[in-house]
Amino acid sequence: MERTHALSLGAWPRTCMRRNRRDDWSRRLVTENHLHVDDLIWPVFVVEGKGKRDPVPSMPGVERLSVDLLVEAAGVAKELGIPAIAVFPNTDPAIKTPDGREAYNPDNLVCRSVRAVKAAYPDLGVICDVALDPYNSDGHDGLVVDGYVVNDETLEILVKQTIVQAEAGCDVIAPSEMMDGRIGVLRDALDEGGFEHVRLLSYAAKYASAFYGPFRDAVGSKGALEGDKKTYQMNPANTDEALREVALDIDEGADMVIIKPGLPYLDVVWRVKDAFGVPTFVYSVSGEYAMLKAAAAQGWLDYETAMMESLLGFKRAGADGILTYAALDAARILKNG
Ligand code: PBG
Repeated sequence: MERTHALSLGAWPRTCMRRNRRDDWSRRLVTENHLHVDDLIWPVFVVEGKGKRDPVPSMPGVERLSVDLLVEAAGVAKELGIPAIAVFPNTDPAIKTPDGREAYNPDNLVCRSVRAVKAAYPDLGVICDVALDPYNSDGHDGLVVDGYVVNDETLEILVKQTIVQAEAGCDVIAPSEMMDGRIGVLRDALDEGGFEHVRLLSYAAKYASAFYGPFRDAVGSKGALEGDKKTYQMNPANTDEALREVALDIDEGADMVIIKPGLPYLDVVWRVKDAFGVPTFVYSVSGEYAMLKAAAAQGWLDYETAMMESLLGFKRAGADGILTYAALDAARILKNG
């Protein structure tokens, strides 16, 4: 029989890489990495009001939801098997102050959201950011004194914010403001407050990134922000520094860590997972989502396949979980094929 494959021209034995790719069943058999619904965390934005859906212009398909609709959406996520959601508030600018004191109002939008979601779906994990940017009239993650975000004074506010969120029923506190020493201080505060079961998910390696732009639109901190966040968020040029950040946070009691953003930082995900073997999450941020949606809207990319391919890339890099605005889409695709 005449051989038609190019590899048959040479001497044997020869490796044929394409044989395993020939059929769907054998492609499935040799698949090395899998995305599962258990890997997904869905970040959601909330606003004041009732029955309110407020589209985020720079994130097509993403809406800020009032608390009642957030509860409905949480039900959809739970039904699809998504383990946890992360709640972000769009705070009324009228109540923002330079000291961000709304962050520790026990009846603030986030606390009301957490109470409502946990009452309806006690088994759904709820994650809350700890940082001042949704509440601070300067748009910064910490307290600004003479143009500089001060560390220890910020920590004192973060402790209060953590406690009101824990009291509201938040399962996972996720400090995202990159202050030094916050994990240890928040762990102590949680333990002393009787919240020893509340987990700490540290945004351990969070870079000063242009990819956060659409998020700042969504929470309404963009207009307020003066300057940038380079004095506390990491330099995109560094990875050894990310390992130091993660090492410190683990030492201080972090239960899980986040690398953020996602796609431009897959090497960091890999190095962190490889070096520490701790639960490592990646945050595929607003700008990554916006890029996919924008290209898809032009007909330049297929949203679903490009999105699923990106999520698989995070798994390949070693991520245990992925925060993604596409979590519901991905969960539906995983369910229905
Ligand atoms: C704020 C925070 C940011 C994000 C999550 N928490 C923005 C920032 O640091 O400016 C970004 C998420 C995204 O872009 O999707 N502490």
